[in-house]
Amino acid sequence: MGRWQRQWYLPAVDLKDRVAIVTGASSGIGLALARMLIAEGASVAMVARGVDRLERVCAELGPKAIAFALDVGDLARLANLPGEVVAKLGRLDVVVNNAGVHYRGDMLRHEADKLATMFMVNLVAPVVLTRVAADVMPTGSVVVNVASLAGKLGVPGSAVYSGTKAGLRFWAMAAAGDLEGRGIRIANVNPGPVDTGFFDDDFDNVSNLTFSQPMVTADAVALRVMEAIHSEKTGLDLDIPVGSGKLATLGYLMPSIGRMLRPMLERKGAAAKARYAERRGAASK
Ligand SMILES: NC(=O)c1ccc[n+]([C@@H]2O[C@H](COP(=O)([O-])OP(=O)(O)OC[C@H]3O[C@@H](n4cnc5c(N)ncnc54)[C@H](OP(=O)(O)O)[C@@H]3O)[C@@H](O)[C@H]2O)c1
Repeated sequence: MGRWQRQWYLPAVDLKDRVAIVTGASSGIGLALARMLIAEGASVAMVARGVDRLERVCAELGPKAIAFALDVGDLARLANLPGEVVAKLGRLDVVVNNAGVHYRGDMLRHEADKLATMFMVNLVAPVVLTRVAADVMPTGSVVVNVASLAGKLGVPGSAVYSGTKAGLRFWAMAAAGDLEGRGIRIANVNPGPVDTGFFDDDFDNVSNLTFSQPMVTADAVALRVMEAIHSEKTGLDLDIPVGSGKLATLGYLMPSIGRMLRPMLERKGAAAKARYAERRGAASK
């Protein structure tokens, strides 16, 4: 088990009988997080588009997991969500903007509307949900965004995705001041590659650079989100793995060093990608 998978947090906030919204809660990071929130006594409004999988996971998690089937890109529906959650569950204390979409490869492969969808789901939806939720959240509440290390250093083959996640991070760090007046904290969690199904639908177009970094589990990322929820600080920008975050910062601040390291990282990533494909292939047989 890697160092980044042995993390812990101080449970400073009592989540018992609190209410959270988690977008993208029916699989991967969102599902792992919903489990942790429920284990601490919170109720979770579980958001995803696919009704069948959402209802199945809610049934598995028990009565504290409540399905709200919607596409976060449907802004009219999304703007009603905080009110619906308060009407049904009595309050709203935590919002986790986790749902995300990544159409991979050269941006010129994709129609313009797909590129716009990435901005809508990854950036516009978190801003709108946070804005509306802030009107019903009490002092001491918290918003956490699941961004990406691709939002710290632009990744070739992920240009638009990188732009959406960089925008998400920068918006949140600037909005921390606006939300502070209401006693609401906001934080980002920036994962490197995570072992979910997120890249399986377009595996060939996942960059070697992505695979050059250690892959973490959905549980490890969810723990980082729990750390942000329980922190007293606002404007946090937490990386996972921490070492990959430092490398991304170095590449951003010193592009010439980034260019120098890139061929070595590409080679390392190509080998790791081949091993991952083999492992996945073996697991599916
Ligand atoms: N996995 C990685 O390597 C990685 C790395 C860095 C950052 N991230 C970020 O982590 C977040 C979660 O990713 P993951 O790896 O856990 O992905 P995942 O396992 O594919 O889960 C994605 C979840 O989001 C839901 N979703 C997708 N589009 C949605 C929409 N428009 N409206 C509502 N729900 C939607 C999906 O359900 P439905 O399809 O049924 O809607 C599902 O519940 C994303 O923001 C991603 O950008 C992932």
